[in-house]
Amino acid sequence: MTANVDSDPQAVATALTKSAVFLIMVINPDESSADTARDLCADVSALVRAVGFRDLDGRLSCVTGVGAAAWDRLTGLERPAGLHPFRELHAGNRHAIATPGDLMFHIRATRMDMCFELAAHIVGRLSGAAVVVDEVHGFAYFDERDLLGFVDGTENPTGPDAIRAAIIGPEEPDYNGGSYVIVQKYLHDLAAWNALPVAEQEKIIGRTKLSDIELADDVKPAYAHNALNTIVVDGEEVDIVRDNMPFGAVGSGEYGTYFIGYARSSATTEQMLENMFIGSPPGNYDRILDFSTAVTGSLFFVPSQTLLDGLGDLAEPAVASGNGDATQLTASAPFQAGADGSLNIGSLRGEAQV
Ligand code: HEM
Repeated sequence: MTANVDSDPQAVATALTKSAVFLIMVINPDESSADTARDLCADVSALVRAVGFRDLDGRLSCVTGVGAAAWDRLTGLERPAGLHPFRELHAGNRHAIATPGDLMFHIRATRMDMCFELAAHIVGRLSGAAVVVDEVHGFAYFDERDLLGFVDGTENPTGPDAIRAAIIGPEEPDYNGGSYVIVQKYLHDLAAWNALPVAEQEKIIGRTKLSDIELADDVKPAYAHNALNTIVVDGEEVDIVRDNMPFGAVGSGEYGTYFIGYARSSATTEQMLENMFIGSPPGNYDRILDFSTAVTGSLFFVPSQTLLDGLGDLAEPAVASGNGDATQLTASAPFQAGADGSLNIGSLRGEAQV
């Protein structure tokens, strides 16, 4: 298969913002709901422009992700290599739970009102076609701290490094410009956490609490969060791009961290989860999990902006083959697979095919 796609990524690798809304939705089973969802996906960038233009300093952005089953239904295109239902993990009393999700909208801005407005438009457009199964309004907490009190995001790659970590390149030619995202909503037992001496908390995270300095190797335990989440392949560290957000409700005692991690390969984030929940080696697990419970878990593919904007042009998507696999394309041009098996997505934008 030749690489003929020159696709702009969605706003995956943007600078951190003060506010975010995380929406997870499930599409109703009928075909007209799928049509509505497909049209909405194609219109998200227009909605972002409309709401975002009201305050350009608000830096409004939205990343749209599509779950594995919904990808088959909405596009009929071959599944991206790393897209599958979220893989649950169990060990001891630790459980990385899988929860439903067809569409993910990660809405970010410097102002919550802009996030809220865009979320309302998206949900309004999907009214009768999809339901919200999880909605989290996240806020920046002092100097980018999570509710455990630690600065969260320090070692995140930025600029070109973030693109390298999160955006698919030539390894998946038909999906270049795309990304994989894993989300998990964690609830913390803050009373238990706060009862732990700060020195113990610092060993669990692997950094000092007040000054956010990484612990030296001879002090940092093997179970430290940042030790378990350092993935090295062929001598090189492989990063993901995170934009965790605190959220909560004081009346009900809900204190949480919404984890969101973008990667060019879902296997990287999955390896991190395995290290955290099962342990590396098994049993050497992440002690954050003694104080935090994952109550959701989903994996989505984030198509390039180019592919997302073109979703509405897909006519009837997949015709299921006899064994129920969505393999046969009935997409109208320009999504019909080219003679070389590629998606010809570049033609959407009048770009030269290479
Ligand atoms: C309760 C949920 C979580 C909390 C409160 C949390 C918090 C933190 C904190 C405070 C840091 C250190 C500062 C930084 O570099 O950002 C950190 C680092 C990191 N976390 Fe998490 N995290 C959570 C879940 C996860 C999950 C589920 C993953 C991956 C699947 C993950 C991956 C990472 C990575 C890759 C780093 C950077 C490690 C390094 O290179 O130093 N985190 N996290």
